[in-house]
Formats: sequence, C-alpha cells, structure tokens
Amino acid sequence: MSESWLFGLALNRLELSSLLKMPLLEQQYGSLTPLEKAQVGLIMAVCQPKVIVETGVWRGRTTRFMAEFLTLNHMDGHIYGFDLPEVLNELKSGDSWFGIAENVTLMQGTLPNSLVSWLESHDQLIDFALVDAYHSYYAVRKELSVIAPRLSQHGYIFCHDYGRLQSKYEGVMCAVNDVARLFSLSVLPLWSKDDSDSEHFCQAAILHREVRCTTPRKIFHLRKYIAQEYPALASIWGRFRHYVHGD
Ligand SMILES: C[S@@+](CC[C@H](N)C(=O)[O-])C[C@H]1O[C@@H](n2cnc3c(N)ncnc32)[C@H](O)[C@@H]1O
Repeated sequence: MSESWLFGLALNRLELSSLLKMPLLEQQYGSLTPLEKAQVGLIMAVCQPKVIVETGVWRGRTTRFMAEFLTLNHMDGHIYGFDLPEVLNELKSGDSWFGIAENVTLMQGTLPNSLVSWLESHDQLIDFALVDAYHSYYAVRKELSVIAPRLSQHGYIFCHDYGRLQSKYEGVMCAVNDVARLFSLSVLPLWSKDDSDSEHFCQAAILHREVRCTTPRKIFHLRKYIAQEYPALASIWGRFRHYVHGD
C-alpha cells in the first residue's frame, strides 16, 4: 500500500469538527436559524474576519454565536453589534455574558446614523457584516450603501431575510440586488425549503466583491476555446504564426 494512498485515505476521513469548532446552533424566534448560523460560521472560517459588523443584535443569539465561534477557533476578530439603546440595555441586564465578552462591543443608537458615525471615526475595513435590523427597502439599502465601500477585498456580507418577489421581505431582496449592482458585488441567494421547517429554513443572501475578468484574459480564454472547438482552424493559425513569426 503506497504512502500517498494512505494519505488520501486519511484525507477522505477528515471530519468538519477537525477543521473547525461550532458553538451550539440554537433556534430562537427572531434570530438566524441553526442552518444560517452554521453558514455564518463557515464564511467566518473562510475569511478569518478581524472586523465584524452586525446591524440588529436583538437578543444577541447570533452575536454570541459569532463571538464563541471566534474564541473556539482561536480567531482574533472583534464584533461591533448595533441596535437601539433600550434593546441593548435589556440584553446586558438579562445576559451577564455580554458584560464580560472581550470580542464584542455593543453600539447603541439608531441605524443607519449610529453606523455612519462609527464608520466616520474608524478607518478599518469590514471583513464580515451581518445585516439584520429594520427590514424595509430604504433601511437595508442605506446600511448596505455605507458598508459596501468599506468591505475588505475578501470580505462578505450576510443579508438576512432576503425574500422573494411578493413575499414579506421583498423590500430586502430589492435593496440587496440594487446595492449589489451599484457596488459591483455578486449576490448568492441561499433560499431553501419553507419556514415551516424552522431548523433548516434559510432565507438570506451572501454578497462578495465581483471578480472582473480583464480584456486580455478574455481574449486568452477565447483563443483556448477556439483551439478546442475548431482544432483545424487553430492548426492553420498555428502554421501561419510559425510562418510569420517563426514561433
Ligand atoms: C431581527 S432582529 C435581529 C436578530 C439578530 N441578528 C439575531 O440573529 O439574533 C432585528 C433588530 O434590529 C433592531 N433595529 C430595527 N431597526 C433599528 C434601527 N433603526 N436602529 C437600530 N436597531 C434597529 C431591532 O431593535 C431588533 O433588535
């Protein structure tokens, strides 16, 4: 039995838990579903975020999931969670964990102004944003429009409640699509099943910077395509080049 075959066998048996540690995937009303929290964890594992922004903290279930994910996986990111003062005060008085968590800062104020003034006083880029506050077209559009220009090159935005046409959250979907077009971001909708399946329901979209193919690269790929599809033409072209350039 060769060594590389044994190595291949070992790789086939890798389990997710040996690659990353997941905190408890809780189901709570008004919070991301367990499946969505797991997706957030996977994105965080991929982009290794230093600066994380969450608009809409509510009971802090996803905030705490992200903070514990960072700690469990030895990642040194920091979460800035934005919500209204009364909501955050209630959260801190009800869950003492938020008073001691070193990787979470709760930002009180009314969005989008609280986010705008925080961005004005911080010049860091955002590596991961979770947009989940007020679900109107204009609120989502405004938040995304200030986050998008500050998104790092390899950053992601997780837009929760990305609805479908004529659904309750159509406004979120329209705002996400419009901002994505405006800032050249790619949209990956994560719609699955319906909301009667509370654990596995997923209604969100992920945004990431669009990767543009330059004209010389497009020409390169067109030439490769022609060479594969029309080998006779490619061989005439090759002979012509050989005759003219000697290559
Ligand atoms: C759906 S909950 C967030 C759930 C949370 N992200 C989670 O996964 O557990 C929405 C939150 O957005 C907050 N919110 C809505 N409009 C806001 C505004 N204009 N400014 C600040 N917070 C707002 C609400 O107070 C509420 O706590």
